[in-house]
Amino acid sequence: MLVRLLYVSRSVKPETPEETESILNSSREHNIGNGITGVLCFGGGIYLQAIEGGRNQVNALYTHIVKDPRHKDVVILAYEEITERRFGGWTMGHVRLDKLNPSIVLKYSETPELDPYGVSGNVSFALLEELMATASIVGRA
Ligand SMILES: Cc1cc2nc3c(=O)[nH]c(=O)nc-3n(C[C@H](O)[C@H](O)[C@H](O)COP(=O)(O)O)c2cc1C
Repeated sequence: MLVRLLYVSRSVKPETPEETESILNSSREHNIGNGITGVLCFGGGIYLQAIEGGRNQVNALYTHIVKDPRHKDVVILAYEEITERRFGGWTMGHVRLDKLNPSIVLKYSETPELDPYGVSGNVSFALLEELMATASIVGRA
């Protein structure tokens, strides 16, 4: 039974490359053994993350991530049972939102600043689909 969870949060401090590197490193180490795949978007004080995998594994990871003191205001945007993975190629792909072409974000929102808190989970997921289609997601070795 596969599920996908999408959430948004705010970084407690302005994210640094060291912080995101450390998050991506633990994701890679932990996710591969637990069959978790997904994508983490960050920038402008926002994290938008999709995690997918077995229901127990996704729920356990989410309850773990939610306690991480590096972020706050964690809100689930979508949770669904899925028949296939969307981000199966990444133990945790990543996207720097502040490096994106603003027109990609503008396509799905009123302003070029991404605000997943202000749009539906479907819209945020459509943005992730667009990031896939435009090859904006960077993988991990
Ligand atoms: C925005 C965000 C996303 C994260 N995503 C993951 C993830 O996908 N997988 C993971 O293992 N840890 C992730 N973490 C890190 C975990 O919260 C935690 O720090 C890490 O798993 C190490 O946990 P431990 O100190 O209990 O070993 C994320 C943290 C943040 C702030």
